[in-house]
Amino acid sequence: MAYLVFFFIFFFVFLFLLRKLRYGRLRLPPGNLGLPFIGETLQMISAYKTDNPEPFLDQRVNRYGSVFTSHVFGEPTVFSTDPETNRFILTNDKLFECSYPGSISNLLGKHSLLLMKGSLHKKMHSLTMSFANSSIIKDHLLYDIDRLIRLNIDSWSDRILLMEEAKKITFELTVKQLMSFDPDEWTESLRKEYMLVIEGFFTIPFPLLSPTYRRAIKARTKVAEALTVVVRNRRKEFETKEEKKNDMLGALLASGEQFSDEEIVDFMLALLVAGYETTSTIMTLAIKFLNETPLALAQLKEEHEQIRARSEPGAALEWTDYKSMAFSQCVVNETLRVANIIGAIFRRTTTDIDIKGYTIPKGWKVIASFRAVHLNPEYFKDARTFNPWRWQSNNNSEAVATPGNVFTPFGGGPRLCPGYELARVVLSVFLHRFVTRFSWVPAEEDKLVFFPTTRTQKRYPIILKRREESRSNMGFGITAETERRKES
Ligand code: HEM
Repeated sequence: MAYLVFFFIFFFVFLFLLRKLRYGRLRLPPGNLGLPFIGETLQMISAYKTDNPEPFLDQRVNRYGSVFTSHVFGEPTVFSTDPETNRFILTNDKLFECSYPGSISNLLGKHSLLLMKGSLHKKMHSLTMSFANSSIIKDHLLYDIDRLIRLNIDSWSDRILLMEEAKKITFELTVKQLMSFDPDEWTESLRKEYMLVIEGFFTIPFPLLSPTYRRAIKARTKVAEALTVVVRNRRKEFETKEEKKNDMLGALLASGEQFSDEEIVDFMLALLVAGYETTSTIMTLAIKFLNETPLALAQLKEEHEQIRARSEPGAALEWTDYKSMAFSQCVVNETLRVANIIGAIFRRTTTDIDIKGYTIPKGWKVIASFRAVHLNPEYFKDARTFNPWRWQSNNNSEAVATPGNVFTPFGGGPRLCPGYELARVVLSVFLHRFVTRFSWVPAEEDKLVFFPTTRTQKRYPIILKRREESRSNMGFGITAETERRKES
């Protein structure tokens, strides 16, 4: 036994010395690498298990400054809570490669946009952007977004789990955008399998240790098989020129690249993943924050009542309606800022990198925290308070205040979220339909907190009260005029 203890002490001391020798010549950002292997992982996990994970970053920022070194999940890691450094990391994808945890990479598939690198990534990123940009949304996605949101809202009972409903809406919208399918039994069974895949993202990626991960891998195979059938059929249609659909799959097939079925399936699966939890969480949290801020809710309702008063009963929303939602854009920004759905991004250095007088060694993990910036009172007064009016300085929807480096809910640089405009439109349309249709109260003690890991557990039950509608016709809201517009 004494030998064993001695061996461990010796081994740890040896690792300490080795580490000193390896990094001693470099001027690392200040910080603490902690014990070999374990580093500061336990401190980080225990901070992130609470509702307020900030202390882990706050304490270290106070001690070492806005860029510091730590050692978490088995490797040395540099954290940045500094907007300028974050921007540098985001914009230099040759120096900082994307680095997702193993669980995510395996389930996404190797051809997903999130894992692509170099020129292929550049090409596919711009293809994705071109399919979710303002003019596409304006020309045809807006119509489907509005229609599917109303279709869902119409089926709601008086008590709903808002997060679940928001997820359903988001999934149906993405399927429509990707391959033009309206919700039916097939899409619903795809969604059930797909939810199992998503669960796998939040677990340890070892099939032997985790039944959730095993289930997720199986479900991924099923989802990929189902999507492969769709891709094959559409490829046939495309080759025989039978039909051309105006969707993402159509754009991939018509792009002139010879993508294999597997590549297209991985690509579609990643898009389903990227927009699913993010958009649905933001929809749910916007409602929660508004519920807690009655003045903001009143102002938002007023804005949407005015839009409704201007349009025909039951008419679909127009692009001009969306563009007139100035206060809604403030609510969207503020929800994104406070909720921090993607709180940080993960990268790995491809070479030794000098930054702010320090060197980050090649191969180190780098975590750029957006959340730390968004909740820093230096950049946002009363940063923990939901205050949509803070975005009102340039009060029109064209020029929502976006202070350059400090507000980055959608990232930036070559990996800027291609769904950033789409997510805004979906949330705005959802808010319109929701607040003009219902009043509501949370059904149980409302424990939905900001920290994202709670998002999968908390489903935000609410009791809805339908507002008396003299001008209801809310069904699909498809009037003769709207139908004409759609056809034209
Ligand atoms: C509120 C909703 C959303 C938020 C907060 C959000 C946030 C982000 C962020 C921060 C990134 C950058 C990740 C990185 O740099 O590593 C990102 C990437 C991405 N997002 Fe979103 N996103 C949202 C909605 C969507 C939607 C609706 C789509 C669907 C089109 C989407 C598709 C993607 C894709 C494909 C990437 C990877 C881009 C790449 O690596 O080139 N996102 N998102």
